[in-house]
Amino acid sequence: MLEEKKPILITGVSGFIGYAVAKNFLLKGYDVIGLDNNNDYYDVNLKKKRLEIICKLAKQHKRDFHFREIQIENKDLLKKIFHEFDPEVVTHLAAQAGVRYSLMNPDAYIQSNLFGFINILEVCKDLSIKNLIYASSSSVYGANTKLPFQENDSVNHPVSLYAATKKSNELMAHAYSNLYKIPTTGLRFFTVYGPWGRPDMAPMIFAKAILNKTPIRVFNEGNMIRDFTFIDDVAEVVVRCALKPAQPNIHFDKSNPEPSSSFAPYKIFNVGNSSPVNLIDFIQMLENAFGIKAVKDFQPMQSGDVVATFSDSTLLENWINFKPSTSFQDGINSFANWYIKFHDSNLN
Ligand SMILES: NC(=O)c1ccc[n+]([C@@H]2O[C@H](COP(=O)([O-])OP(=O)(O)OC[C@H]3O[C@@H](n4cnc5c(N)ncnc54)[C@H](O)[C@@H]3O)[C@@H](O)[C@H]2O)c1
Repeated sequence: MLEEKKPILITGVSGFIGYAVAKNFLLKGYDVIGLDNNNDYYDVNLKKKRLEIICKLAKQHKRDFHFREIQIENKDLLKKIFHEFDPEVVTHLAAQAGVRYSLMNPDAYIQSNLFGFINILEVCKDLSIKNLIYASSSSVYGANTKLPFQENDSVNHPVSLYAATKKSNELMAHAYSNLYKIPTTGLRFFTVYGPWGRPDMAPMIFAKAILNKTPIRVFNEGNMIRDFTFIDDVAEVVVRCALKPAQPNIHFDKSNPEPSSSFAPYKIFNVGNSSPVNLIDFIQMLENAFGIKAVKDFQPMQSGDVVATFSDSTLLENWINFKPSTSFQDGINSFANWYIKFHDSNLN
C-alpha cells in the first residue's frame, strides 16, 4: 500500500519524541521532512541541538533531511509545504504538551492542539495522505482507577484541558477517517523519558534539583505511580505504526462499538511499558544514578494531575509485534549518563 521509502513528514521534529522518530526513520533508510515552530515553551537551544544531531545523522547516512520552521496554525504555509514535498505518511507530533501548563496558558492548547490539528487533517485530506499517525496521551484516561488502562475503557472524564484536547484529536481523526478514508492511528503515550528529554518533565526537573542540591517537590506526598516509557521504544512504535496504516475492523459491531477501532480506517493504541514505577522508587533510582541524596519537599496533589498511570499495551503488540520493554533501571541509567554529559551551560 505504501510506496517504497517515500519521504516521511514529521511535525514537532525539534521536540523530544519527534527528534527520536526522525533519527529512527533516517537509520531505516527514509528521507525526512521535519516541521516545527521551535517555540520557547522550554529551552530553544535544546531543540536546536536536537535538529543539529538529526542533520548530522542524515549526512552520515546519505539521507535527505529538510527542515521548515512553521506554525501549524498557518494553514496556507502548511499546504504549501505539503505540496512541495508530497509525503505519503505524516507523523504528527507537534502540540502544546504538558498537563500543568494547560492550567496556566489554555490558549496555547487550543491554538496548537485544536486549530493546528484540524489543519493537519485538512492537508492530509487534500493530498490523500496514505497514513496519519498522531500523538494522543495517557492523560485521556483522566481519573480512571481501573488499572491497567485499556483502549476500550471509557475516556469521557478528562481532568485537564490538555487531556481534553488529546481526546478531541481522537474524535476529529475518526471523523476524517470516516469521511475521507484517511487511515489514522492515535498513540496514547505514557510518560516518555530518556536522553534529550523535556525539561518540564519529572526526570529532568529532578535530575537538575538533585545535582544542584535544591529541593524537589514531591506531589501527593509521593503517593503516585507512573508507567515510564523509554524514548527509543516509543520511536520504534511510532515508526512501525507509520509503516502500517490502520484498516477498517471488519468485525466492528455498530450496536456495541469498541472505542479502539472502527468501521473506518482508524486505530487507537496505548504506548506504555506496562510496569509502573512508584514516585519514591523513581527518585531513589535517580539518587543512586547520581550518587547524591535528593532533598524532598512533600506537597499535596496538584489539580489536573492523576495518581496512577498503567498501560495495557497488548493491542499495540498484536498490531506491530513490538511493545516498549526497556527496563526502568536501564532507561534511567541511560538518561542519567546523558544528563551528566550534557547538563552544562547550554542546557538551562
Ligand atoms: N513526552 C511525553 O511523555 C508525552 C506523553 C503523552 C503525549 N505526548 C505528546 O507527544 C507529542 C510530542 O511530545 P514531546 O514530549 O516530544 O513534546 P515537545 O514539546 O518536546 O515536542 C513538541 C514539538 O512541537 C512543536 N510545536 C508545538 N506547537 C507547535 C505549533 N503550533 N506549530 C509547530 N510546532 C509546534 C514544539 O516546538 C516542540 O518542538 C505531543 O503531541 C505531546 O502532547 C508526549
